[in-house]
Amino acid sequence: MGVSILPLRLEGVTFEADGKRLIDGVTFDLRPGTRSVILGPNGAGKSLLLRLCHGLIRPSGGEVSWDAPRGTEVSHRQAMVFQRPVLLRRSAAANVAYPLRLRGVPARERGERVAEALALAGLSAQAKQAARSLSGGEQQRLAIARAWVMAPEVLFLDEPTANLDPAAARAIEALIDGVHASGAKIVMTTHDLGQAHRLADEILFLHRGHLLERAEATAFFSNPRTAEASAFLKGDLSW
Ligand SMILES: Nc1ncnc2c1ncn2[C@@H]1O[C@H](COP(=O)(O)OP(=O)(O)OP(=O)(O)O)[C@@H](O)[C@H]1O
Ligand SMILES: [Mg+2]
Repeated sequence: MGVSILPLRLEGVTFEADGKRLIDGVTFDLRPGTRSVILGPNGAGKSLLLRLCHGLIRPSGGEVSWDAPRGTEVSHRQAMVFQRPVLLRRSAAANVAYPLRLRGVPARERGERVAEALALAGLSAQAKQAARSLSGGEQQRLAIARAWVMAPEVLFLDEPTANLDPAAARAIEALIDGVHASGAKIVMTTHDLGQAHRLADEILFLHRGHLLERAEATAFFSNPRTAEASAFLKGDLSW
């Protein structure tokens, strides 16, 4: 994979739209290895922050920078999975093969990598099924397999289990663990406390566009330092 592009650094990042400051002066870094969870109530700015990290939107102020040698194609080293994945009107296998084809991976190697990604996602039996006929949970697993097949150093996931039942959500969580075990840095958003408990090594707690806390997960849950985080943990925080 070559030299790491991590850590990712955000320095005084703001994002404004319609005259509103939606992300306000956020500074942190994301280091390799850990599963970093951006936690906060609905509307806190979690999705915006993830998009800023992945480079899908540009900050209005401040800086987002990867620790990569000049000339590194950082966009090739990271992938993102959206809350509502958009799948091609083709088979599950063809969806996973698609990004490999775009990058010019030879057909023989593609087959192997697609099979491996589908197996990781527990979708080997659905390889030939039309992607859009898969269940919601299966579609989300397929979207993760499609991101993972590119061997990203960093995988961003935005609310990967929203709208899924508990069993389907657990299957996604197990898959995220599998992706992490394969060596990828995980950066994900959730408003689900249980999920943050189960998956996070570190928590970035976001509230109204401000990063209020960044802490090792067990420390955050046992000893939140802000009134807002305490209220959120008790289920009392509304926007
Ligand atoms: N392009 C935009 N123009 C104006 N407002 C926006 C824009 N994008 C996002 N917002 C607002 O910014 C705020 C944060 O949005 P964001 O989607 O990041 O929240 P979130 O924490 O991901 O919430 P959820 O948990 O519901 O997914 C919201 O109030 C949203 O309406
Ligand atoms: Mg969101």
